[in-house]
Amino acid sequence: MSVVDALNSRVSTRAFLDKPVPEELLKTIFTEAQQSPSNCNVQPWQTYVVSGDKKDQLKDKLLTAIMSGKAPNPDFDWEVRYEGAHRDRQFGAANALYSAMGIERSDKQGRQIAMARNWSFFDAPHAVFFTMDKYLNIMGAVDIGIYAQTLSLLLAEHGLASCMQGALGQFPDPVRDMLDLPEERGILFGMSFGYADESADVNRARTDREPLEASVTFVG
Ligand SMILES: Cc1cc2nc3c(=O)[nH]c(=O)nc-3n(C[C@H](O)[C@H](O)[C@H](O)COP(=O)(O)O)c2cc1C
Repeated sequence: MSVVDALNSRVSTRAFLDKPVPEELLKTIFTEAQQSPSNCNVQPWQTYVVSGDKKDQLKDKLLTAIMSGKAPNPDFDWEVRYEGAHRDRQFGAANALYSAMGIERSDKQGRQIAMARNWSFFDAPHAVFFTMDKYLNIMGAVDIGIYAQTLSLLLAEHGLASCMQGALGQFPDPVRDMLDLPEERGILFGMSFGYADESADVNRARTDREPLEASVTFVG
């Protein structure tokens, strides 16, 4: 598969088959992802792949935290309020998702239930948490973003689907406990992955992209 084919075939996938990825393949993919570039080659990613009973236990703990009405307490600042064109695109993405699921704009409860599926990992057999030392701040976040995209393209190449999830960094306490993370380490975000359930309506959601001129200026 070419890079452009991997890029075009990757979409955020939010329903998965109950079929774990063979351990050998997991190791191959995560070994390949180590090739990701990073500033000064510091390779700040400390990645945790959670599967099986541990994943189910974590799901229960995360859902309990959400149900308790507890406010999110992410390790990093995810507070940005999108403005202007960014806000329009945010609405566009939400609209694509909820339309595919048949959830009306006015159906607040339906949207909340759909949102909560983030913390059951959309029933994926695996979830990966991207953690890094907190002091790295934006420098580390850039590297981890690049690493996550590398990983998502490798997954696509191996016939696997994924969804990056800021939501998985919103309630870090149960994750920190389960992964036994030291205090100086922060959870940036996560990603659920596995084999896509091609029959699920939610997986028909498609987002668009701006034309070249909206984003790229050629100088000289
Ligand atoms: C850093 C990051 C965080 C994201 N967080 C979430 C999330 O918490 N839940 C979710 O359903 N999708 C999440 N997404 C998926 C985006 O909504 C999706 O990438 C975007 O709408 C473009 O759609 P596409 O991935 O299908 O091309 C996230 C994507 C990125 C890159």
